[in-house]
Amino acid sequence: MLNLLSDAVRRNPYPLYDQLRSASPVLHDPQSDLWLIFDYLDVKQALTDHAAFSSCYGPAEWMIFLDPPRHAKLRALIAQAFTPRSVANLEPRIRELSRQLLNQTIERGEMDLAGDFAVPLPMLVIADMLGIPDTDRSQLKHWNDAILIMSYTLGRQDEAAAQIANEFNATTVETNEYLTGLLAERRASPRDDLLTRLLAAEVEGEHLTQAEILGFFQLLLLAGSETTTNLINNAILCFIENPHQLAQLYTTPDLLPGAIEEVLRYRSPLQWMPRATRCPVTVQGQLIPPGKMVLLMMGAANHDPRQFSNAGCFDIRRDPNPHLAFGHGIHFCLGAALARLESRIALTDLLERVKGFELMSDEPWEPREGLHVHGPNHLPLRFAPGPQRSPMVARAV
Ligand code: HEM
Repeated sequence: MLNLLSDAVRRNPYPLYDQLRSASPVLHDPQSDLWLIFDYLDVKQALTDHAAFSSCYGPAEWMIFLDPPRHAKLRALIAQAFTPRSVANLEPRIRELSRQLLNQTIERGEMDLAGDFAVPLPMLVIADMLGIPDTDRSQLKHWNDAILIMSYTLGRQDEAAAQIANEFNATTVETNEYLTGLLAERRASPRDDLLTRLLAAEVEGEHLTQAEILGFFQLLLLAGSETTTNLINNAILCFIENPHQLAQLYTTPDLLPGAIEEVLRYRSPLQWMPRATRCPVTVQGQLIPPGKMVLLMMGAANHDPRQFSNAGCFDIRRDPNPHLAFGHGIHFCLGAALARLESRIALTDLLERVKGFELMSDEPWEPREGLHVHGPNHLPLRFAPGPQRSPMVARAV
């Protein structure tokens, strides 16, 4: 797909986005037969226009791959179990997990921010929300990886793509068996966790089916962990690249929520979301035929100079900041509040405890596996060693 997928471009896709956007805001790649949209307003419009741009392109029956009216029904059911209050209630536990993870490396004076902190934290939070026993948690990473590499099959029909699809199907069977056991336990003895709430959720007398709960379980593993991992890693990358703004964050911690929004815009964890055209649709005078795969390039839209002044500058005081990093419209990220909460807790902890952090290597970082995801696979940091902290001491963030 053009040269958007080379490691160098995936580390910094923005110059190429700018070039492609000014050459043609809608682009057709003949090799993959993919269409790409780069402009902010066009991406936003396509995210809203589900009559023309369908979400039914995915390999599974997940809410994210459904159109109305089925999407609305499923989202209403799931939203019941995913209320703002249940997210806010997670705060003390997230703080404890963040503190425990930092305790494991803080005395060493070095860590791989990704492997030691930004990958495990969101996964542990999801495991907690779902009520997955500690002993089963290593499975989650394995399932997450198998789901993540599905992005490699996009626009491809070859043998490698078929093999990835087979692995995904095998993972689905495995996850389903595992989930069947967990759901039986919850039916027998309900708990205060998301699985129990999913079983209880009801709209007009209808409950979620096992297949729907399985779909949500898989979607959560992926949507809830990989993205937040990248938000945390990308924030630290942005702060290292902009030491003056990092200094402002130390003196004025209230700037952190705005800084997180700017990381979401400047280094969007998800660079694009696909859609499939349902009918012929004209964008910027270009006709996209029906049945075509279109990539809505949110990462490019978030750098569109017609929407954002000094779009290429990272600015923690940017206001307003109407980025599209969480999508827009009916599929707007269900976990946005959780991602914001988690990253605020994690970054507060990192800024407070990991003093004087810097990159351990000048080598360019290796991008993560998922092709639509933006962020480093590893981020080795060196810092001044600090003391462990008791996980029991609660602290206001
Ligand atoms: C920085 C972190 C995150 C980013 C950048 C992000 C981004 C997105 C985007 C762009 C969409 C829309 C997809 C589309 O329009 O096709 C989406 C949907 C979704 N996200 Fe997130 N997400 C993040 C974190 C989370 C978390 C923590 C969770 C849950 C624990 C979550 C759960 C979901 C779900 C369930 C959907 C599907 C909503 C629907 O189809 O109605 N996300 N996310």
